[in-house]
Amino acid sequence: MNLWNIIDALYKNQTLEREEFIFLLKNRTEESAGRLADLAREEAQKIYGKKVFPRGLIEFTNYCRNNCYYCGIQASNPNISRYRLSEDQILNACQNGYDLGYRSFVLQGGEDPYFSDDRMVPVVEAVHTTFPDCAITLSLGERSLESYQRLHAAGGRRYLLRHETISPVLYGRLHPESMSLKHRVQCLYDLREAGFQIGTGFMVGAPGQTLEDLADDLLFIRELHPQMVGIGPFVPHHDTRFRDFPSGTAELTIYLISILRLMDHHLLLPSTTALGTIDPNGREKGILAGANVVMPNLSPTDVRKDYALYDNKICTGEEAAECIGCLSRRIESIGYQLEFSQGNYRP
Ligand code: 5AD
Ligand code: FES
Repeated sequence: MNLWNIIDALYKNQTLEREEFIFLLKNRTEESAGRLADLAREEAQKIYGKKVFPRGLIEFTNYCRNNCYYCGIQASNPNISRYRLSEDQILNACQNGYDLGYRSFVLQGGEDPYFSDDRMVPVVEAVHTTFPDCAITLSLGERSLESYQRLHAAGGRRYLLRHETISPVLYGRLHPESMSLKHRVQCLYDLREAGFQIGTGFMVGAPGQTLEDLADDLLFIRELHPQMVGIGPFVPHHDTRFRDFPSGTAELTIYLISILRLMDHHLLLPSTTALGTIDPNGREKGILAGANVVMPNLSPTDVRKDYALYDNKICTGEEAAECIGCLSRRIESIGYQLEFSQGNYRP
């Protein structure tokens, strides 16, 4: 096997055999990363131009019933202060975002039992009727098919649910027994059945993760064919069992962004906050390697530090307006522009 032949094959066929993915990951060099990034950036620009879609992220609850071992807001962490935004606070955050130009909102939260369908559906309806020209993405974790159907009927159009890892062994190492990979994958298919455009994804450099695992994640994504894929480096949180594990690297995350772009030229592919956290120019590098979405924070400033999935998260002190100002300067510094539209997948 030869690295350059494999990159050519990926470029031509938009996929690879498992062994080829593994080879491409194991034998990566600065040169292969550069080549992949050049091809990926070119393909992204053919479809989306030098545009990056901002999605305003509203982290509306940090209560969570789960205990994902890597996550700072897991239920068993007693050291964080828990909050829930009211419907009014959520609508205010959207209004604030709308006035700054946003036409795409993401409502994200832990798996908070308080937000039953009877409480969540009216919130989604309120955002939908107040801002009918905006796209609503939900990220509320695992729920039933019926729940997904109600949330879709209420106006939700996209749903983010990272599969985290498709390896049952690694999934078991990262999650308590009460959680199941099978159920998570079922949720993704249920979301599609309910009519959502779906986003999945995984962490890069999660404790115990191998390059073989990542190759399997790529093959799973190939099969699922989601509209969006969010990947970011694992970053340790000091209250978790993985506190002493090293972060994932920007280098490998960016390499995978390029591979994902070459697998689906139309994919909505965020350059994530976690990537910007481990490398001060991580988000810019992600865009230059094929990413085309950013998700700046629109949550009220006083709760931001409490939505700490990992340590040293950036943008927790800035007002929404400062954040979008900073981000648009960063995007412009690399010759790109923010596009304040719904930012649809263009098949
Ligand atoms: N480091 C990086 N990403 C994390 N996530 C949760 N905890 C961490 C961490 N410690 C990611 C998960 C989840 C998303 C919302 O945040 O992949 O799906
Ligand atoms: Fe939020 Fe820079 S993008 S402060």
